[in-house]
Amino acid sequence: MNFPRIPLGTTGIKIPPLGIGTWAWGDRMFWGYGRGYGDADIRDAFEYCLQAGINFFDTAEVYGLGQSEKMIGRLLKADGRPAVLATKYFPFPFRLTKGRVQRALRGSLQRLQAGTVDLYQIHQPISLIPDKALMQALAGSVRAGRIRAAGVSNYNLERTRQCAAFLKAEGLPLASNQVSFSLLNRDPEKTGLLALCRELGVSVIAYSPLGMGMLSGRYTPESPPRDFRGNRYSKEYLSRLPPLLELMREIGRAHGGRSTVQVALNWVIAKGAIPIPGVKNKRQAEDVIAALEWRLTGEETAQLDSASDAVGRR
Ligand SMILES: NC(=O)c1ccc[n+]([C@@H]2O[C@H](COP(=O)([O-])OP(=O)(O)OC[C@H]3O[C@@H](n4cnc5c(N)ncnc54)[C@H](OP(=O)(O)O)[C@@H]3O)[C@@H](O)[C@H]2O)c1
Repeated sequence: MNFPRIPLGTTGIKIPPLGIGTWAWGDRMFWGYGRGYGDADIRDAFEYCLQAGINFFDTAEVYGLGQSEKMIGRLLKADGRPAVLATKYFPFPFRLTKGRVQRALRGSLQRLQAGTVDLYQIHQPISLIPDKALMQALAGSVRAGRIRAAGVSNYNLERTRQCAAFLKAEGLPLASNQVSFSLLNRDPEKTGLLALCRELGVSVIAYSPLGMGMLSGRYTPESPPRDFRGNRYSKEYLSRLPPLLELMREIGRAHGGRSTVQVALNWVIAKGAIPIPGVKNKRQAEDVIAALEWRLTGEETAQLDSASDAVGRR
């Protein structure tokens, strides 16, 4: 497979039109790593992604308390093929000076067994270090060659605009804002964040593009997810999904038997964002990557918009 690569903001870095989310890799606390999926599943998924040319992986220092980064480091070392790595700095309240950014980055680089991170993102906007100092720290890391690009995550319009300006003063672009965006959460579209990012040349990276798996159609009020997702998606909420899921199945059938997961990812791509679905095994990796083999029509995208509106808020 040879998927055309797309630019990451205006950084000059090229990435596949879809990345792979790795929060669940090694994470026992939320995702129950080791129960139902484990090392061999992740290795097979990882190797399949590289073979398919999807070599953009999103992780964070906090995922699995460092296990996700360590796993990617081990897998990449064993494989030898190149990858585009995105990780995140978590603004813990005890991190009070910008030197803490450099220290956290050193930890991530060690766990990833890498000399450089392609995209280093501020995980949350709730930081005791002001944005200006955070952006200066990221710019310093670019100049030192430890990261190639600077990004943010979960930032609203105003803070995105400000961070882009702080980085511009350092001679750098803001590469991306990673936000929750899916048929179950259209806030970035409705608040104007997507439009602002387009205007600023900032890529929008869409996390939880499958609504944490709810858009696979596997979960119902009778059979809800048994992990932390059960608290996020109530039975009442799950009972509102069937009309949307039915439309997704219908659209999937019209494209030769595509899954609802592929429809969900193509909807994100149609909106101009880069989805980073989380996968736990090779079968899921094959499915999400196959979403790049086809596209939704404009009419289908509009039908999905309406069905998504009808679900209402969580
Ligand atoms: N920046 C942030 O604050 C933030 C927050 C959350 C996530 N993220 C990033 O975004 C990534 C993705 O988000 P996410 O993991 O929360 O949610 P997601 O991508 O919407 O859903 C992932 C889950 O969907 C299910 N799934 C995946 N492929 C499937 C397939 N082909 N068929 C059926 N089920 C499938 C799997 O769970 P089951 O098989 O168990 O159902 C998988 O764990 C994360 O890994 C992380 O890198 C970032």
